[in-house]
Amino acid sequence: MPIFYTQKELQLHLKNIDNQRLSIGFVPTMGALHKGHLSLMEQSLKENKITILSIFVNPTQFNNPEDLKKYPRTLENDVKLVEQLNKNIIIYAPSVEDIYEGNTISTKFNYDGLENQMEGKHRPGHFDGVGTIVKKLFEITNPTNAYFGEKDFQQLQIVKKLVSKYKIPVTIIGCPIHRETNGLAMSSRNERLSSEARNEAKIIYKILLEAKTKFKNLSANKVTQFVEKEFKKYPNFNLEYFEIADEDTLLTCKRKVNNKKYRGFIAVFIENVRLIDNISLK
Ligand code: PAJ
Repeated sequence: MPIFYTQKELQLHLKNIDNQRLSIGFVPTMGALHKGHLSLMEQSLKENKITILSIFVNPTQFNNPEDLKKYPRTLENDVKLVEQLNKNIIIYAPSVEDIYEGNTISTKFNYDGLENQMEGKHRPGHFDGVGTIVKKLFEITNPTNAYFGEKDFQQLQIVKKLVSKYKIPVTIIGCPIHRETNGLAMSSRNERLSSEARNEAKIIYKILLEAKTKFKNLSANKVTQFVEKEFKKYPNFNLEYFEIADEDTLLTCKRKVNNKKYRGFIAVFIENVRLIDNISLK
């Protein structure tokens, strides 16, 4: 199974196999792979001749050093999972040095305001880090299509903005959220939860579904108040935000407009682990 640790090796390999300029599907990840990541790879395999998976815990997008330190790194197991899915997937698992060459800082990006909402507000600099790494990875892999999960909906919109602003010739494809059977959105961070917390965290999706139902008849403000009140019933949870926002602009919904698409976005702590999720309110 092809696995490369430097951009040089990867690019040499691509040059050798891609002399007909085949379509390349690219799935960037930070590893600790789960079925959500695998679903992105499956979609890429269906739609492209070549699929590249990157595994890189990107230091510049972590605003919290403790979070970076604790982020699960499970390369050996990740490789096994990918191998079980498809042996032709090309893995690129670079070091920080290979990517940043001793200069671990991010570029400042302007995403027309998308970066000032929700995750951007609560994780200063996060989307500069994401833009920096995604742009670098696109330059290294030169993909035809790149796959991003709706689990990180704001990130998906920001990456779309990045490629349109910088005229990067890649199609960004959004993929649906993969959930545990109890409804909890799959996330590498779930690994850090006790089994009790992982079970209790099913209420996040349950409350999002209730919010969706209530949004049919109530204002965004009233639904937000409902969610905030619900979380007060669960002392193990610390709600950072729940917000209903326009899918395109990510601006908070003040008054519903008929043909706009809205989504409920949430960030919540349990056992000091920060989980995010979202739901379409259509
Ligand atoms: P990571 O959190 O590893 O996620 C990699 C990709 O998998 C992202 O596009 C994310 O939205 C998607 N994903 C995660 N959980 C998912 C789920 N339950 N269902 C569907 N898709 C899911 O997001 C990042 O890494 C990084 O910010 C990255 C883009 C790699 C840049 O460093």
